[in-house]
Amino acid sequence: MEAVIWLVWILVVLIGAKVYLMATHRKCHSRRRLDGKTILITGATSGIGEATAVKLAARGARLLLACRNVQKAEIVAKRIAASTKNTKIEVRYVDLTRLQTVRALADRIRAEEEKLDVLILNAGAGKVSYPKELTEDDLEYNMAVNYFSNFLLVNSLLDVLKRSEGESRVVVVSSFFHALGTMNLENLNYEKYFYRLNAYSDAKLAEILMVKELARRLQGSRVTVNSLHPGVVRTNIFLQLPLWYRTLIGIVWFYMKTKEEGAETVVHCAACESVQGISGAYFVNCQERRPSKKAQDEKLARMLWHRTLYYVNLHDNGPDEITAAAEGNKIK
Ligand SMILES: NC(=O)c1ccc[n+]([C@@H]2O[C@H](COP(=O)([O-])OP(=O)(O)OC[C@H]3O[C@@H](n4cnc5c(N)ncnc54)[C@H](OP(=O)(O)O)[C@@H]3O)[C@@H](O)[C@H]2O)c1
Repeated sequence: MEAVIWLVWILVVLIGAKVYLMATHRKCHSRRRLDGKTILITGATSGIGEATAVKLAARGARLLLACRNVQKAEIVAKRIAASTKNTKIEVRYVDLTRLQTVRALADRIRAEEEKLDVLILNAGAGKVSYPKELTEDDLEYNMAVNYFSNFLLVNSLLDVLKRSEGESRVVVVSSFFHALGTMNLENLNYEKYFYRLNAYSDAKLAEILMVKELARRLQGSRVTVNSLHPGVVRTNIFLQLPLWYRTLIGIVWFYMKTKEEGAETVVHCAACESVQGISGAYFVNCQERRPSKKAQDEKLARMLWHRTLYYVNLHDNGPDEITAAAEGNKIK
């Protein structure tokens, strides 16, 4: 009998915790339509990116899905068009492990698009590999996909973002894991040492610092830039982890957000009227929150910015203002 009572209590606590989490998940309450807006989103073939694309398509936006697997993306685009009755969904190729494809994407967008209203840097990867895996640009894999490519893409699209008549927004999907990031600028690409569990957190911290510095540089323009943590969401990203890690995740799987719930903060930052004019902020659960102390360090953000120019070779390809910044800060 005692065992039964214990079992009932355990069930009550487990279900209560789930109910509490569901009740505290906030949604983007804005009903704003996005007809006439062009939105580019990276990594829309699964997870949070796909769910975000569905929600934005339902609001009437024209979507450019920037993905590494074009076939898969075409299938997703058709599925979104069928479910939302929005046929303005196109696929563009980019592989964030290859900077030349990031440059090619930016060139194409600059040549073809009159304007870009929202840029959502969502694609991401969390590889826990040892020894470190390098991309064809000699960049560590996690840093390349989550940070260096995003830095290059957003800087290469600033002029087209500025062409919008109203406010245009950049939304960067970071993570609460940024709080574990260490950010040693002398070891940004792990030239000196490499802890495999740090790479993802460092990249996510770098993303928030990039947002901080970019927001400062964009003051006075109509372009805003914000980062966010989508929550802990059931997606494919965890499939890249080693078995022991996946086992831990499996235990809390029931408590994680669905991808649709995870997309809410992204949609909030991309579309909600209440975010208008806000720049350099970090959002969690559709609310502005403070990131870690390190992520608020303005000096670190500036130093990281200048270091990063070197790694992505931006002084060769970036817009003029970035070129100028790079010329003044040749980092060897
Ligand atoms: N899930 C969470 O709990 C969580 C928590 C905090 C932050 N995040 C962040 O949320 C974002 C979305 O992740 P998710 O959880 O939705 O994971 P996901 O389902 O694995 O989606 C990741 C997306 O990124 C794309 N991608 C991966 N590597 C790429 C590359 N080299 N080039 C271009 N695209 C690439 C994937 O494309 P393929 O379909 O081709 O693989 C996929 O579309 C990431 O930035 C992640 O860090 C997730």
